[in-house]
Amino acid sequence: MIDWQSAKKFLSNPEGIGAKIVYLPETPSTQIPAKDAARRGAAHGTVFVTEHQTAGRGRRDRRWQSVPGRDLMFSVVLRPDIDMSRLPILNFALAVSVARFLEHFAGVRGVGLKWPNDVLVMEKKICGMICDVSACGKRLAFAVAGIGVNVNRTAGEMPRFEEGRREATSILIETGHKGKLPELLGALMSELDTAVSLVCREEGSALLLEEYKNRCVTLGRHVEIVTDDGNFSGTAVDITEQGAIRIDGPSGSRSFDAGDVVHAAL
Ligand code: BTN
Repeated sequence: MIDWQSAKKFLSNPEGIGAKIVYLPETPSTQIPAKDAARRGAAHGTVFVTEHQTAGRGRRDRRWQSVPGRDLMFSVVLRPDIDMSRLPILNFALAVSVARFLEHFAGVRGVGLKWPNDVLVMEKKICGMICDVSACGKRLAFAVAGIGVNVNRTAGEMPRFEEGRREATSILIETGHKGKLPELLGALMSELDTAVSLVCREEGSALLLEEYKNRCVTLGRHVEIVTDDGNFSGTAVDITEQGAIRIDGPSGSRSFDAGDVVHAAL
């Protein structure tokens, strides 16, 4: 059995994110108990972690699949005191935290961010995240960030594109080392704590946006964006502080708040 509470030994701020860890051996999705708890007033930084999700949720109503006991799957209740307009920066803070954690703690090289918040290694996905929010007027009441990091899955356990190319990777595949899940959770919580605390400050938000853009492998690429209103192709040229991506296409320049980006082959 995994000792998830031992993750706390790896927290840089023992009273910050990860100070309370709720373990669920199996759950449809960690987002469900985390959101229930947030509605009942769960504290900032409360983490819900599992070894097995039976109906893991991905972005845009997709499924998030994993092999029980191999990966990190958790949701964290966040209560930064921010205006709803600063939500994109909170999302960027999550993505930046995972990138820092993968590089500095897990020893993964070549980590990049794909807009809006996929974490890739050489075009293969290693982490995905979703963020469900509740507002109180113009202010954020709470956010529940759900993060899935592929840790100990082997190449054979990874999903493939139709043409057989693998579409995802893991810490094990990238480094050759098996990761200890509680250690990794603690280290990631520490990075989240540092980055999320920056979101409440103007200059902190500017730094996060800058780091996000520096790490974003979508910028400068030819992309197709798939949205509910149709598709648009062009070169990704900028990301705004409102979280939108600007794409220059043959018919002009357009900004998109949401959508799925497909990178053209390198
Ligand atoms: C995506 O890239 O599509 C987002 C994937 C998010 C997966 C995580 S795993 C923990 C949390 N619980 C869920 O059901 N989803 C998120």
